[in-house]
Amino acid sequence: MKIAVVGTGYVGLVTGTCFAETGKDIVCVDTNKEKIEALKKGIIPIYEPGLEDMVHRNMKSGRLSFTTSLESCLDEVEAVFCAVGTPPDEDGSADLRYMLEVARTIGRNLNKYVLVVIKSTVPVGTSEKVRKAIQEELDKRGVDITFDIASNPEFLKEGNAINDFMNPDRVVVGVDSERAQTIMTKLYKPFMLNNFRVIFMDIPSSEMTKYAANSMLATRISFMNEIANLCERVGADINMVRSGIGSDTRIGRKFLYAGIGYGGSCFPKDVKALIKTGEQNGYQMQVLEAVENVNEKQKGLLFDKLSSIFDGHLEGKTIAIWGLSFKPETDDMREAPALVLIDKLLDAGCNVRVYDPIAMEECERKIGDSVYYASDLYDAADGANALMLLTEWKEFRSPVWNKVADKMKQKVVLDGRNIYDRKEMEESGFIYRCIGY
Ligand SMILES: NC(=O)c1ccc[n+]([C@@H]2O[C@H](COP(=O)([O-])OP(=O)(O)OC[C@H]3O[C@@H](n4cnc5c(N)ncnc54)[C@H](O)[C@@H]3O)[C@@H](O)[C@H]2O)c1
Repeated sequence: MKIAVVGTGYVGLVTGTCFAETGKDIVCVDTNKEKIEALKKGIIPIYEPGLEDMVHRNMKSGRLSFTTSLESCLDEVEAVFCAVGTPPDEDGSADLRYMLEVARTIGRNLNKYVLVVIKSTVPVGTSEKVRKAIQEELDKRGVDITFDIASNPEFLKEGNAINDFMNPDRVVVGVDSERAQTIMTKLYKPFMLNNFRVIFMDIPSSEMTKYAANSMLATRISFMNEIANLCERVGADINMVRSGIGSDTRIGRKFLYAGIGYGGSCFPKDVKALIKTGEQNGYQMQVLEAVENVNEKQKGLLFDKLSSIFDGHLEGKTIAIWGLSFKPETDDMREAPALVLIDKLLDAGCNVRVYDPIAMEECERKIGDSVYYASDLYDAADGANALMLLTEWKEFRSPVWNKVADKMKQKVVLDGRNIYDRKEMEESGFIYRCIGY
């Protein structure tokens, strides 16, 4: 069975590689020539644990190849997975231009049946738009070729993507034909042997499931951040509250961590897009509007705490930042809270020294030389008036605090992820601030 995966980003590259691992022949397609040239040489454009080895292994076995030309492989494949980006448009709705470009390329070049599978996160109704765009191109050519559409949203987490794809909680598939269901069943059969569930449903429900899942998780984060902010005001401890409610099986322990707001390439844009879908359908998504507002405020919280420690006099202060990516185990900085904070610090006239185990190059690509890129966590702390922990990489969990203190000008730590112990920090002479207690 041969399939094409279009878009070799975080989702497409992982999808293609994992399908190849289960014995399928995969051709990964991307319009970014540099990316494809690098991949052909075995250079992986993103950091994702375990991905590099798996790509190399499957390239060697001949099951995984790369091309910039979708046209050239359409005659050979049974299915085309579309995993191109769907970034937010100016008004917050999902920008479908890449998806529709792929659809038109398929319509212009299709010579036999194919199943088009939409893996990107797209609003309800997009599959129909894709179907229409393909059909319009086929009509222009005056050819009668059947094809099907399936929706197969992806739930992998960056940083754990390989494991999530190979051992998912569930696979959601939206179909409206038996033929499509048969192909999708065949494709996911190797994963089904491990007893996980493929949930078949209609296409609009499948498209909505992805937005509902991400919005629910974002809601939990904003909810806990609100509770944390109230805890600070009433003398409660959010960490205790989290254990207290997380042990209720109706609630569960995951996604209950207070912090500096959610970021990344998915939650912010998907919450915005669902609010927009509501608007376009005459329905106000009030909960999600609040989720977004709370999150925007939360991203500035650590800056406000810093400012109050220094009575608003931040000009000329040196601030160390540990962690840049929006979460550990990824180099992804899309919508990372670190970017908001760095901006605020620079605006306030601070000198900023940053360190991240993986995301330094990505940060430099995004913000250039406006900050100092430190060689390690201690170098970042050198001469700092305050240190901010923004991403909970393992490397930051137990630093040698004496060494940090020796480097710093003032012993001030702002912990945006609640990973340090207040008592220990204060006993070591640090001014310590965290979230929610
Ligand atoms: N990143 C995640 O953790 C994650 C998880 C689940 C779902 N998703 C969704 O999956 C989709 C892809 O996300 P991503 O993070 O992998 O994006 P990405 O930006 O990392 O990659 C998208 C790729 O598509 C390529 N592309 C754009 N137009 C193309 C075209 N016409 N033909 C071929 N390639 C083209 C780009 O060059 C890029 O390499 C999005 O809809 C996203 O919301 C992402």
